[in-house]
Amino acid sequence: MKADPHPWACDLSQLHAEVWTRLMRGVHDRHAPARHPTLATVTPDGRPQARTVVLRAADKAAGSLDIHTDLRSAKVRDVRITPFAAVHVWDASAHLQLRLEAHVTLLTGPDVTAIWARLPAASRLSYGTTPAPGQRIAQALDYEKVADPKSFVVLRLAVANIEALHLGPNHRRALFDRGDNWAGTWLAP
Ligand SMILES: Cc1cc2nc3c(=O)[nH]c(=O)nc-3n(C[C@H](O)[C@H](O)[C@H](O)COP(=O)(O)O)c2cc1C
Repeated sequence: MKADPHPWACDLSQLHAEVWTRLMRGVHDRHAPARHPTLATVTPDGRPQARTVVLRAADKAAGSLDIHTDLRSAKVRDVRITPFAAVHVWDASAHLQLRLEAHVTLLTGPDVTAIWARLPAASRLSYGTTPAPGQRIAQALDYEKVADPKSFVVLRLAVANIEALHLGPNHRRALFDRGDNWAGTWLAP
């Protein structure tokens, strides 16, 4: 077996810890790969949809992730009907792919007052566009950005499982499940 440049990938509990370290780095470092995960949902007619988002919070103890979006967006329509999402991150320097499955809860109104209060004014403008996101407009710039707390929603993702694929000199693939308290198991890559 060849020496591995990422020793954390050789042990299930270290790999699990590394996954959360990298997710949390995404929240705090705008250049970290986990800053911009891909969020996939299921549309009302059962088709997959994926888009880039910003990771706003990652809580290892709770096993949760937060994403901020507009209440009128298609992804919110999706999770109202199918409250599950998949999250994907490719961390190239760590040779690490993360695939998470999560149950999604929508937090609005008084539940997000404190989060809204901490948002910079420029960020608030992303929530409250007129007309609503995804509406057809005659010209590309026929919209207004208005900060509207009523349009602000936090998608709180309760992670159900995490699959980590490490492409080191040896390929290692692991599955961590909330159901077994994140103990983890190796999978054939
Ligand atoms: C780098 C990047 C970051 C983005 N971050 C967010 C985000 O945090 N929240 C969000 O709602 N949309 C974000 N978007 C826009 C989404 O990718 C998507 O275009 C938009 O939310 C509409 O998606 P929907 O129609 O599937 O709801 C981001 C796009 C890019 C390219």
